[in-house]
Amino acid sequence: MMEIKGFNEDMAKMFALASLREEQIAAAPESPDLADPVNALSRRLYPDRLRMMVKRVVDETADTRTFCFGPAPGTGGLPPFRAGQYLSLKVAVEGTPVTRPYSLSSAPAEARSGFELTIRRQAGGFVTEHIWRQWRAGTVVEATGPHGNFYHEPLRDSRSVVTLAGGSGITPFRSMIREIASGHSDLNLTLLYGSRSSEQIIFRDELTALAAEYPDKLKVIYVLSDPESGWRGRTGLLDAALIRETAGDLESKSFFVCGPPAMYRFVKRQLQELAIEWRRVRFELAGSPEDITLEPGYPAAAAAGKIFQVTVRSGSRSHSLSAAAEESILSALERAGLAPDSRCRSGECGFCRALLVSGDTFVRPEGDGRRAADRVLGFLHPCSAYPLSDLVLQVP
Ligand code: FES
Repeated sequence: MMEIKGFNEDMAKMFALASLREEQIAAAPESPDLADPVNALSRRLYPDRLRMMVKRVVDETADTRTFCFGPAPGTGGLPPFRAGQYLSLKVAVEGTPVTRPYSLSSAPAEARSGFELTIRRQAGGFVTEHIWRQWRAGTVVEATGPHGNFYHEPLRDSRSVVTLAGGSGITPFRSMIREIASGHSDLNLTLLYGSRSSEQIIFRDELTALAAEYPDKLKVIYVLSDPESGWRGRTGLLDAALIRETAGDLESKSFFVCGPPAMYRFVKRQLQELAIEWRRVRFELAGSPEDITLEPGYPAAAAAGKIFQVTVRSGSRSHSLSAAAEESILSALERAGLAPDSRCRSGECGFCRALLVSGDTFVRPEGDGRRAADRVLGFLHPCSAYPLSDLVLQVP
């Protein structure tokens, strides 16, 4: 008869397990072991809050700067991250605490010497105007992260990637490209980078030099939508014909897209035309649209220009505030000093989640990252929801 090796021994140990566990439970301390070395290491690597100090500021274009950070004095090192992830900055603008997510533009391989964030100034932008006024070498900045899923995952994505960038959406791809140049990533990457004019191309000299240095790994194509006379490169938009012509065999490639919401709608149509399966496409979070009233499906006739009352309940307390139809509920909460925790500001992470007790809101389908159960139970993500009536919200 065939003997099952070790069977009796294993069974004997299994029967002894219950009494062994009972002994260990009886001997365990009453409170949890907070000194667990794995927890301690994880907290050290990923603290709840990062404190970073601006070491240097580099002007990239007329309206774009790279802020180079090291750890603030008295803090540990900066945490590891994956190329494509973002930090959520915690900034107090005129006394109002707000958050803003920005992709890291430096490479993970460079994290020991610091982080870089490349930020485009928006005319009249609440946060970017503050950053331009206030941030200098020596400024200490708070953030959480790194966060986000917009990175190359070898188990899921092809080693050959086509990256489509619009404007300041170049930042996660600069991180990926520098990681390739450092020798820590073996991707083959084609970058199609759309800008309005040549002066607005961020990192142009660096990207051109790296593409020349690593011709087997990197291909960089600039595309201008509003070219000045004398431009001899590509013109137009990142359309299906351009992708087909420049990216080679599309069958085997993964696609990464980062840019403004209008670009996403256009690029989605192009990728559909090319019959690219959605499992091969990653879109970075797009943040809030510049003007929600221009978004498809927004009921402008009913809501635009109106001010609504928002009642916010938190435990036994209740607050009342005004919210313009054109601003996200999160922005209104932040102005009133009632903001829940927030990170992505794109409807995806769920950190700002609140219960809508009554009232109507508008949520763009692309910004609706709620779980199906949350939708049924009436939760919303205030960063991607806009008021269409007076509201009552319950926040944690
Ligand atoms: S901040 Fe991420 S869902 Fe609102």
